[in-house]
Amino acid sequence: MTVFVLERRRSTPSRLLGEPGPSDSQLLEMLRVASRVPDHGALAPFRFLRVAGDARAQLGDRLAARKLELEPGCDEGVLAKERGRFVAAPVVVIVIGCYQTPHKIPAIEQQLTAGCVCFSLLQIAQAMGFGAQWLTAWAAYDPVIAGQLGLADSEAVVGFIHIGTARESVGERPRPDVLERLKDWHP
Ligand SMILES: Cc1cc2nc3c(=O)[nH]c(=O)nc-3n(C[C@H](O)[C@H](O)[C@H](O)COP(=O)(O)O)c2cc1C
Repeated sequence: MTVFVLERRRSTPSRLLGEPGPSDSQLLEMLRVASRVPDHGALAPFRFLRVAGDARAQLGDRLAARKLELEPGCDEGVLAKERGRFVAAPVVVIVIGCYQTPHKIPAIEQQLTAGCVCFSLLQIAQAMGFGAQWLTAWAAYDPVIAGQLGLADSEAVVGFIHIGTARESVGERPRPDVLERLKDWHP
């Protein structure tokens, strides 16, 4: 049964997400469940920022302003895309990786744990009847945007997880053929 739910997991493009979003208690439940990830050393190398309501358009405005700084003279269509990045889904959870380096647990393992949180969030959102998509794009890696989000030097955006109700169903996409990828190892 559980496998069946997981097998149907699929992202809903953020532009197709709308109201209603998760209630406060549903979102907390999602984050609680999504935080049950494998975590070498139990460092819990992640935290969350919720972007909802007017803050969504305000974050888009910040992206547009930064885009103009990076690409002076870019056309209005480009800026409109930046302004609109966060407005469709009722809530966007920014999963932030919080890394301890140097540390006996390698940075890559801490990053993988934070990535698992993003994937778990997609799964639990869908299991609770919502649609979701994990996006990054340039803003996830831009130092000025990181500063505006209040990230420390040891932190990074792992994903913008858009969560809402799917306004239309999304078709399947081709999935990897695991038989092609599976080999037996022999000494
Ligand atoms: C780390 C990460 C970042 C991603 N960033 C983007 C992105 O910026 N834009 C995009 O169109 N898809 C992005 N994707 C892909 C989508 O989240 C999603 O996987 C894709 O729409 C396919 O849907 P599926 O999850 O049903 O396979 C990203 C995926 C990952 C894992």
